[in-house]
Amino acid sequence: MTADEAKRQAALQALELVRPGMTLGLGTGSTAAHFVKGLGERLKEGLVIAGAVATSEATAALARAAGVTLLEPGPETRFDLAVDGADEIDPALTLIKGGGGALLREKIVAAAAVLFDVIADAGKRVPRLGRFPLPVEVTPFAWALTARKVAEALRASGCGRDILSLRQKDGAPFVTDGGNYILDCQASEIPDAPALAALLDATPGVVEHGLFIGLAHEAIVV
Ligand code: 5RP
Repeated sequence: MTADEAKRQAALQALELVRPGMTLGLGTGSTAAHFVKGLGERLKEGLVIAGAVATSEATAALARAAGVTLLEPGPETRFDLAVDGADEIDPALTLIKGGGGALLREKIVAAAAVLFDVIADAGKRVPRLGRFPLPVEVTPFAWALTARKVAEALRASGCGRDILSLRQKDGAPFVTDGGNYILDCQASEIPDAPALAALLDATPGVVEHGLFIGLAHEAIVV
């Protein structure tokens, strides 16, 4: 089975969890895209949901094309089910996310989910996080200064390496849907994700990071 077929199979399994009337959170990336397309098929077959919130402009466009009603989250919004991919999944369901640059909206949605299901191909399972470069979203203002603090956080939390690069697209810094930059942090290994997360959370200029700790309830890995 190809990795893409595995992603599609994982998405199909997650679709089985969708019930009429649900409010859904829609992730970003190629695996989440399979879920959105499959959801569109179910809607055509007569499924009725309350609506969904997309974690990126790309997913929003996909969802609209699939006939999904998009909602503006309010103060009381809870997602009955949020479904998203991941870049790495460790045995405790701690994740690295943000390979697609949507980690900020993805974390907001995951944190408001009654059930947050991660869907992935088997290549995303790892014994320990860190081989995939950890995305850290930072303000464009003084990003290089913030990058130095991020490197210090990697060292202080015992990471194997502290090599950072500013994500690029078409020869310019990649800009997120929120108007920020992404630092891709090659940590090699992250021995203490909570310690690193706490240091990054306390760093001015860091908007959000791709460590998802205690957020995923289930992983569907094919
Ligand atoms: C986007 C993400 C994605 O979920 C992650 O990069 C996995 O992508 P894919 O499903 O294409 O393998 O975090 O910000």
